[in-house]
Amino acid sequence: MRLSTRATPAGSARKAAGSARSLALDVLDGCLGLKPRAAESLFDNHPGLGRLDARDRAFSRLLYASCLRRMKALDAALAAHVKKTPKSLTLLNILRLGAAQLLILETPPHAALKETVDLARAKAPHGAGMVNAVLRRLVGSRLADAAAGIRETPSWLHESWAQAFGEREADGLEAAHGGEPPLDITCPVDREAWAERLGGICLGKATIRLRDHGAIGELAGYGEGRWWVQDVAAAALVPLLGDVAGRHVLDIGAAPGGKTAQLCAAGARVTAIESSDARAVRLRENMKRLGFAPEIIVADACEWTGGGGFDAVLLDAPCTATGTIRRHPDILRVRKPSDAARMARQQRRLLEAAIRQLSPDGVLLYAVCSLQHEEGPGQIERLASDATGMEPVPVDATRLGGLPAHVHADGTLRTSPADLADEGGMDGFFAALLKRHA
Ligand SMILES: C[S@@+](CC[C@H](N)C(=O)[O-])C[C@H]1O[C@@H](n2cnc3c(N)ncnc32)[C@H](O)[C@@H]1O
Repeated sequence: MRLSTRATPAGSARKAAGSARSLALDVLDGCLGLKPRAAESLFDNHPGLGRLDARDRAFSRLLYASCLRRMKALDAALAAHVKKTPKSLTLLNILRLGAAQLLILETPPHAALKETVDLARAKAPHGAGMVNAVLRRLVGSRLADAAAGIRETPSWLHESWAQAFGEREADGLEAAHGGEPPLDITCPVDREAWAERLGGICLGKATIRLRDHGAIGELAGYGEGRWWVQDVAAAALVPLLGDVAGRHVLDIGAAPGGKTAQLCAAGARVTAIESSDARAVRLRENMKRLGFAPEIIVADACEWTGGGGFDAVLLDAPCTATGTIRRHPDILRVRKPSDAARMARQQRRLLEAAIRQLSPDGVLLYAVCSLQHEEGPGQIERLASDATGMEPVPVDATRLGGLPAHVHADGTLRTSPADLADEGGMDGFFAALLKRHA
C-alpha cells in the first residue's frame, strides 16, 4: 500500500497540535487564564519543548512574546473583522497568534493561514472556519493603523510611572516595550575578540550585544562557558560593590546566577543562597558550565541561621520585575496594582535578613528590576525611618562603564528602559549601596 505524502486535514491538525504555534498557544492560555502563570516558566517547562528544534523553539517564543507585547493592538486589528469576540480564550488566542504572524512577524500569508487554521482544527475545531475567514480578511492590513491611540501599558501602571518619572518618560517606557530586545551576554575575558567572533557590539563594562543570533546554546563560546546571558543593566550592578577580590560576599536570591557569576569572575569568595529548588538546579548548572564554584545554599534567606560576618551582601530581591517588560511582556498582562506593595513586604523581610548577615563595616547592595516606587526609593526611605542603622552611600557612577543611569540625591540609582533607545534599550533597575552609620 502506498501512503500519500500529502497531509489530510486531520493529519495536518494532528501535526499542528505538537507544533511551535501550538506551544505558543499553550503559553498564552496559561498566562492569560484564570490562574495566570509566568510565560517563561510555562514555556521552559512545557512537555513539548524538547520535541522542537532550535529554530522552532525560537519562533514559538517570539510568537507568544509578540502576542503579549502587542495584545491590545492585535485585538483592535481583529475587532474590525470579528462579529463577536470569541468567549473561548483558546480561540481568541489562536486569532491573536494568526494576527501576530501576519501583522508583526511578516510570516508569508499562506503559511500563517494554513498553520493557524490547522491549529484551530486541533485545539478549537468549532472555530476553525471563523479563524480562516477572519485571518483572510486581515491579510494586507497594517498593525500601525489599528494601534493608533492604543497604549499597551495598563493605565494604573502608566500612571505610577508618570507620577514617579514624569509623563515623558512614561511614554518613553511604552515605546521601549514595543519590540523584541537584543540579546545581551556578559563576557568577562577577551570581550573584544568574542564580540568580533559573535558579530556583536561592546556595551557597558563587560557586555556584548547581539542583534541577530541563532539558538543561544549553539553560539560560539556558550558550551565552553566563556559568557552568560545577562541584560546590560543587570550586569552594571555588581561593579557598584567595587573591588570584591578575596572578599566574602553573600548573594541572596542568586538564581539563575548572572550576578553570582560576576562576583566569582571578580575573585570574590561567594556564598549564594536561593530558595527555589528548581531555580537552584539552574544556578548549579550555570555555575558548572562557567567553571565557577560558589558555595550554594538552598534555603529561605529569611530563615537561614548560618553565615554572618560577610564583607558584602548582594540582595537582588524578588520583585514585580516591571523593569524587564522588554524581555517579559507577560508582566503587562498579569501584574495587579496591589503587587508592588505585596512584593515590598517580602523585600523588607529579606533586607532585614541581609543586614543581619553583614560584618560591622560590611556593605549591602540592594537591587530590584522594578520601576515601582514602593520597591525602590520607598524601600530605602522606610529603612531610614525604621532606624535600622543603615543609610545609602553614594554609588560611584564611573563604575557603570558609560551606561546612562539616573543617580538620585541620596546616592541611589536607577536605570531606565527608555534610555539607550538607539542601541536597543536596557532593563530598568533600582540599586542602593548601604552602610551602617558610623
Ligand atoms: C531577581 S531574581 C535573582 C536573579 C539573580 N540574582 C541573577 O542575577 O541571576 C530573585 C531570586 O530570589 C529568589 N528568592 C525569593 N525569595 C527568596 C528567599 N526568601 N530566600 C532566598 N531566595 C529567594 C527567587 O527564587 C529568585 O531566584
